[in-house]
Amino acid sequence: MDKIVIDGGKRLRGEVRVSGAKNAALPILCSAILTGGENTFQNVPVLRDIRTMARLLRSMGAGVEGERTVHIDTTKLDRLEAGYELVKTMRASVLVLGPLVARYGQARVSLPGGCAIGARPIDQHLKGLEAMGAKIRLSHGYVEARAKRLHGARIVCDLVTVTGTENLMMAATLAKGRTVLENAAREPEVEELARVLNKMGARIEGAGTSAITIEGVDTLHPIEHAIIPDRIEAGTFMVAAAVTKGDVLLKDCLPEHLDAVIAKLRSAGAEITAQDGGLRVRARQDLKPVDITTQPYPGFPTDMQAQFMVLAAVALGQSVITETIFENRYMHVQELARMGADIHVDGRTSIVRGVPRLMGTTVMASDLRASAALVLAGLVAEGETEVRRVYHMDRGYERMEKKLEKLGARIRRAEDAEA
Ligand code: EPU
Repeated sequence: MDKIVIDGGKRLRGEVRVSGAKNAALPILCSAILTGGENTFQNVPVLRDIRTMARLLRSMGAGVEGERTVHIDTTKLDRLEAGYELVKTMRASVLVLGPLVARYGQARVSLPGGCAIGARPIDQHLKGLEAMGAKIRLSHGYVEARAKRLHGARIVCDLVTVTGTENLMMAATLAKGRTVLENAAREPEVEELARVLNKMGARIEGAGTSAITIEGVDTLHPIEHAIIPDRIEAGTFMVAAAVTKGDVLLKDCLPEHLDAVIAKLRSAGAEITAQDGGLRVRARQDLKPVDITTQPYPGFPTDMQAQFMVLAAVALGQSVITETIFENRYMHVQELARMGADIHVDGRTSIVRGVPRLMGTTVMASDLRASAALVLAGLVAEGETEVRRVYHMDRGYERMEKKLEKLGARIRRAEDAEA
């Protein structure tokens, strides 16, 4: 197992390239199931979660070749199943469910169970598939879904779910008739998936709004597509630049996906300007506190909550952070407290009182975004920080320590002998 060792206190300076979006790439790789033949996806981030998805597709009989540019051939796909071992390591495996039922009329997918950031059920995915005519059975920890051919339906989600919207949108592309998804997720990753499906011949309108209409078609065809940049990776580097009082230019990012994050960074006192087709982030003085409530897009993303907690931990004053999406996404708090942060959690709300400095120590990553937050804390802390269990970070950040090192951070990866 690896750890990341950071010697804090360096201002970040320079340019960093944002990789392709993990949460766009995962459903897009699954969308290949809907077509026969070979799809080619470019700008796929090189990450552990992507490798896990490739393993899952291979285990079903698909051919998956390449990194960054990934070719997926589903001609020989014949095992319509996602087993427990893969689903438990990555919940996004559930994204094969909709495409499998739509194209092959059946699927067997392990129930994801709990994960570090909460219970995260998939009832909305199942409810939607049932409305489209699938027979759903839960058996021995697996969801079994069957349908000769799905039919269109009007589906109102009880809550906004990103992968739920994606699963149902993919299922509806090959259903007979029209599906309307209401209270749909509006995330850019949903819009990107719709763009991909429409290129394949689907007829989807309204993706990016809360009502998506899908006219079912009989078949979809393979395509070539380059995936959008990762807004959460971009946001993480923006916070890194701000907390280190740095000056960083993010290349290959889409500022229009970052409105809520940019607004909060500006209110904290960071200067953000569009430059050279990217975003330049500068901070010259100590940051001001910020109040944050996580919301579905276009609100403030839950995937940036932990990173902003680091910003609040070193800001001049008190911030209030409220997590409304996941019930257990504060596991970084105890670790930040060990570095000297002053954070009081009461249910879904955290009161963060900024301290003059954080102190380096050994901390333990618990989930993907928490691990990124601990690395950010290490960048501003006095002395040495060791972040252990960084396999969490490797799920969703491509060579994060290399990118930070290029920006001037004193950071390295090392083997963790004690793990
Ligand atoms: N929920 C239900 N029932 C469902 C589906 C969701 O109760 O059927 C609840 C969840 O338990 C949660 C809330 O609804 O409390 C929102 O969950 P959502 O389904 O939107 O999350 P997700 O689709 O499983 C995606 C991202 C997450 C990101 C969330 C929220 C992917 C692969 N994952 O998860 O990304 O935090 O949306 O924006 O797109 C990450 O990248 O670190 C990550 C966790």
